[in-house]
Amino acid sequence: MTTPVLEARDVTMRFGGLTAVRSVDFTVNAGEIVGLIGPNGAGKTTFFNCLTGLYVPTEGTVSYKGTVLPPKPHLVTQAGIARTFQNIRLFANMTVLENVLVGRHTRTKEGLWSALLRGPGFKKAERASEERAMELLEFIGLAHKRDHLARNLPYGEQRKLEIARALASEPGLLLLDEPTAGMNPQETRATEELVFAIRDKGIAVLLIEHDMRFVFNLCDRVAVLVQGEKLVEGTSEVVQADERVIAAYLGEPFEGDPGEAEAAEVEAAEAAAEATSTTSSTKGEAK
Ligand SMILES: Nc1ncnc2c1ncn2[C@@H]1O[C@H](COP(=O)(O)OP(=O)(O)OP(=O)(O)O)[C@@H](O)[C@H]1O
Ligand SMILES: [Mg+2]
Repeated sequence: MTTPVLEARDVTMRFGGLTAVRSVDFTVNAGEIVGLIGPNGAGKTTFFNCLTGLYVPTEGTVSYKGTVLPPKPHLVTQAGIARTFQNIRLFANMTVLENVLVGRHTRTKEGLWSALLRGPGFKKAERASEERAMELLEFIGLAHKRDHLARNLPYGEQRKLEIARALASEPGLLLLDEPTAGMNPQETRATEELVFAIRDKGIAVLLIEHDMRFVFNLCDRVAVLVQGEKLVEGTSEVVQADERVIAAYLGEPFEGDPGEAEAAEVEAAEAAAEATSTTSSTKGEAK
């Protein structure tokens, strides 16, 4: 039995004359890692914004664990959906630890300002909150940088910190918008492991990514958005083999796809092997 965590029904988002998302039905089940892919401008981020209350969809509803969500970001977070942003949004002049503590404010009785100003009510909850924040920083591999300012972290670590901050709201569903953008191949591999570890903690994951190897390695299911519409949805194998998907991407090389360089290498190697075998067979004939 699969239990839906997220259910988007007939979600449409129009900006004036532009329909960025068109009648999208979408489900994420408990225990799943689901990928959302599509060319630039397909409406992926807009769809995330509709799911998280940043945009009020023109039509349609979004439910979390069977309850329709009000389109207000803090209520969506409170319900149990956390996210990261395509363009990193951290408090640049706060420390790594403080950024995670801010992420916890929806789960503590003390409000954001109390947390920031360290008022009397905050003192009591402070230790427990800090313990949890440190646990998350250890999980993400940034505990040793707890007192560094967020703006001084390398890009890849800023992305990780955003994930830690999102996890601090104790979500049941985590949305990641291009988690490996700007990462080197090692960081990307590590992020892959991290996403598996998050899923193993019982948090469902929905991610947008242009790195196809990352997506197809990780995801139980992948949906393809093209011009605001869900074109195909299925397992990695099904989606990779779908000609409509290949056509949708033609002329749009995947950003930062390590597969592309490798494909060129393989092609070159094949060409070289062919040249060698032609030479040897010519020699063979000559004998
Ligand atoms: N607030 C907005 N007002 C008007 N148009 C918008 C707004 N947000 C997004 N759009 C438009 O909606 C379309 C979808 O954009 P969106 O950012 O969702 O694409 P995307 O699939 O995330 O692309 P990318 O892979 O480049 O991040 C684009 O044409 C974009 O210009
Ligand atoms: Mg986007």
